[in-house]
Amino acid sequence: MNLIIRKTAEEAAVWAAHYIAMRIREKAERTDKPFVLGLPTGSTPIGTYQELIRMFKAGEISFKNVITFNMDEYVGLPETHPESYHSFMLRNFFYHVDVPWDNIHILNGNAADLEKECADYEQAITEAGGIDLFLGGIGEDGHIAFNEPFSSLVSRTRVVTLTHDTRVVNSRFFAGDVNQVPKQALTVGVATILGAKEVVILGFGEKKAAAVKAGVEGAYSHTITFSALQAHEYGTVVLDEPAASRLSSETVRYFREVEEANAR
Ligand code: PGA
Repeated sequence: MNLIIRKTAEEAAVWAAHYIAMRIREKAERTDKPFVLGLPTGSTPIGTYQELIRMFKAGEISFKNVITFNMDEYVGLPETHPESYHSFMLRNFFYHVDVPWDNIHILNGNAADLEKECADYEQAITEAGGIDLFLGGIGEDGHIAFNEPFSSLVSRTRVVTLTHDTRVVNSRFFAGDVNQVPKQALTVGVATILGAKEVVILGFGEKKAAAVKAGVEGAYSHTITFSALQAHEYGTVVLDEPAASRLSSETVRYFREVEEANAR
């Protein structure tokens, strides 16, 4: 695992955007094959999307040869609802960049056959050649995508029931009314994320500090599904200082030294 800590969420978001852009360019220099990018929603990735949009507008990066797969979507919420992850992605990223529409994949939480929808999604990822880089966030309870505590660490894309805690956290997007937050979602599994060639997980703010500590310094455990990143060869956690505030000083010093050594 690699760990990057920046003073503010803005700096950490910019770091992540530049890292993603570097990976897209690197692949384009090697091959004509598309770059396959896994994407999250939520408050956390917005700064990274903003920097990627800025870079696109400045001519520094193109997404023409990028295929995207989003992590998750609510079940039963109309796609046009402002809080659907379809709407979120259009508003915060896809409307502003040049990812071809046909290259965008988001789970359909209104599919007649949800299990088939999930199986087809896994199939589409495989057919795209697998995910090159999966970007994600961490829930306050340590979830990645909607893999709540006690999700199997070898889970694949499926229908899940959201915990009450997650629905309360997400009720801020539904006028503070937990009853408006859907009870179920479709989500890629922990193994779907770990199947990516590289995984970059963002965690910002003091509210994430306990989950960050548990996932980085604690045991590999289904109680904190983010801890599964420990079993990935190329996992990077990008934090601001508040999210890193519960890590031991030895952990922080070690990763700062690694970063300095890599920069030389
Ligand atoms: P947030 O959500 O980015 O809105 O904090 C992260 C998550 O729940 O995965």
